[in-house]
Amino acid sequence: MLTAARTVAAVVLVLAGHPRTAEARIGTFWHVTDFHYDLNYTTSGDPKKMCWDTRDVSRSVGEFGDYSCDAPFSLLTSAVNAMKRFKSNPDFILWTGDDTAHVPNDYFSTEVVVNIVANLTDLIASHFPNTPVFPVLGNHDYYPKNQMPVGPNRLQSEVADLWKKWFQQLEGHEENVYDSFNSSGRYVADVAGSKVTVVALNTLIWYKSNNETALLPNTSSDGLDPDEQFSWANKLLTELAKKGRKVYLVGHIPPGTFERYQQERKGFHWYQPRYNERFIQLVQQHAHVIEAQFFAHHHTDSFRLFFEEKKNQEQRIPISYQLLSPGVTPWRSTLSEETGANNPGIRLVYYNTTTGKVVDVSTYYLDLSAANLEGRAEWQLEYNFSSTYNLMSLNPVALYEVAKNMKANRTVFDLYYRANTVGLEDPEKCTEKCRLLHYCAITEMNYSRFYDCNNGVRPSWRVALAVVPFLLVLVAR
Ligand SMILES: *[C@@H]1O[C@H](CO)[C@@H](O)[C@H](O)[C@H]1NC(C)=O
Ligand SMILES: *[C@@H]1O[C@H](CO)[C@@H](O)[C@H](O)[C@H]1NC(C)=O
Ligand SMILES: *[C@@H]1O[C@H](CO)[C@@H](O)[C@H](O)[C@H]1NC(C)=O
Ligand SMILES: *[C@@H]1O[C@H](CO)[C@@H](O)[C@H](O)[C@H]1NC(C)=O
Ligand SMILES: *[C@@H]1O[C@H](CO)[C@@H](O)[C@H](O)[C@H]1NC(C)=O
Ligand SMILES: *[C@@H]1O[C@H](CO)[C@@H](O)[C@H](O)[C@H]1NC(C)=O
Ligand SMILES: *[C@@H]1O[C@H](CO)[C@@H](O)[C@H](O)[C@H]1NC(C)=O
Ligand SMILES: *[C@@H]1O[C@H](CO)[C@@H](O)[C@H](O)[C@H]1NC(C)=O
Ligand SMILES: *[C@@H]1O[C@H](CO)[C@@H](O)[C@H](O)[C@H]1NC(C)=O
Ligand SMILES: [Zn+2]
Ligand SMILES: [Zn+2]
Repeated sequence: MLTAARTVAAVVLVLAGHPRTAEARIGTFWHVTDFHYDLNYTTSGDPKKMCWDTRDVSRSVGEFGDYSCDAPFSLLTSAVNAMKRFKSNPDFILWTGDDTAHVPNDYFSTEVVVNIVANLTDLIASHFPNTPVFPVLGNHDYYPKNQMPVGPNRLQSEVADLWKKWFQQLEGHEENVYDSFNSSGRYVADVAGSKVTVVALNTLIWYKSNNETALLPNTSSDGLDPDEQFSWANKLLTELAKKGRKVYLVGHIPPGTFERYQQERKGFHWYQPRYNERFIQLVQQHAHVIEAQFFAHHHTDSFRLFFEEKKNQEQRIPISYQLLSPGVTPWRSTLSEETGANNPGIRLVYYNTTTGKVVDVSTYYLDLSAANLEGRAEWQLEYNFSSTYNLMSLNPVALYEVAKNMKANRTVFDLYYRANTVGLEDPEKCTEKCRLLHYCAITEMNYSRFYDCNNGVRPSWRVALAVVPFLLVLVAR
């Protein structure tokens, strides 16, 4: 009797604490990423030493940052203040990593990295003390850079402690959120008062520059599925579908190809080929439960599409999309043939709490040159996704239409291209070769199909080419 009463009381408490019955409304969340805090940034002294990356800084750098440099703390503070000003009470925040500057390993240690993560954790937590935060680590948040080991490690557990307050507030599934992150850098947690479940992946173990996994043989089970993350996600997504949840897949490094690398036609990708293939298959298998995907690492604003596997590539159906959020750092990437830099950006996502459907994305930005000139960081709305591309909501089919319009109509492409560097670069600089590269990066996650697309090979030709060897065999006989 007593036990029954206790159970009832417990159930009532749980329901009161975590309203599971979602009332239909349009909720909001921030997606912020790639802060890359340069703790030694200074506007005084020798211009060659004002920031870490002074490739072509021969002038003084500005108060709020420089396109050649990573972010000074003043820029990061202004970004978080802007979040607070534009939406002080979002449902939650996605924070997808890369907290440290592009500094050589010699100047870092696990302690320095953890201190920087702590600085940024404090910054976000002090401005949003009551907002749930879903964080993941970036490839720059490990010492040495990119070399995140598989499984438990010191950095991960020190960061888990920094994020403990956040993790304790999150509602996990089978496994406690803190324990999951502490041992694997990944976790699953619900967004309170909605149908949405965040599946936060540790993408660092799939990165080709991470020797902890890159050197594992293709034949070993560790090499094929480090930390069994694909198996974990596969099982989890099956369960979440049964529970009627809507999933946001969240991670730092995205699959597919970087849309700004023109040096080689095969493009530039991050995941090892074996993991890229498995990621695509995972999405194909669970597209019905994955409502949207939120990734980062490029510092640019773009999106990606996944398709159902079809014999006839030209009739393929888009089944999932991924939004790549711009970074707060303006840092000039060496991989890009054009400027390689971007204006600082942050984004606010509007979603339907019962369906998880994203209805709009507002990207806010700082015109960095203007801010430095005026001595004042005035963040403003850059664009709304729905009105810019004329959409009712974001979904794979609608985004495929946008991509096809970009290919067919230069005016539409230019809107996308201006947003790609957060308003920094003039679309006129993007040649037809550059334009095709963007289209192929958006629509071809598969490395070999990206290559064909970027070389102007039509999908149907690939089928024809594949038949050639058989014909040759027939002729030989
Ligand atoms: C959320 O989506 C459902 C299903 O499409 C719809 O009935 C409802 O009106 C939407 N809610 C809001 C607030 O738009
Ligand atoms: C910052 O500057 C100090 C003092 O010059 C130096 O010792 C340290 O290595 C630098 N650290 C980073 C991460 O830039
Ligand atoms: C970052 O953390 C370090 C070590 O805890 C501290 O000394 C420093 O003042 C912090 N910097 C900022 C900008 O918060
Ligand atoms: C976190 O992981 C470390 C191993 O990296 C382990 O020693 C520690 O006990 C874990 N912390 C908790 C609270 O479980
Ligand atoms: C990773 O391994 C490759 C091949 O052995 C080596 O060339 C490279 O220097 C290693 N990178 C790091 C960061 O250890
Ligand atoms: C795994 O296979 C791919 C493709 O065959 C190859 O490029 C790569 O070098 C292999 N990796 C290892 C670690 O053997
Ligand atoms: C990638 O494309 C190749 C060539 O068309 C195909 O053989 C392979 O199955 C594709 N992989 C995935 C995961 O779609
Ligand atoms: C941008 O979209 C949001 C959400 O739909 C809306 O509230 C806001 O008024 C829009 N702003 C502009 C300038 O269109
Ligand atoms: C290209 O797109 C713009 C913007 O949506 C539109 O105004 C224009 O009519 C389109 N041009 C063509 C040829 O379809
Ligand atoms: Zn980054
Ligand atoms: Zn990164």
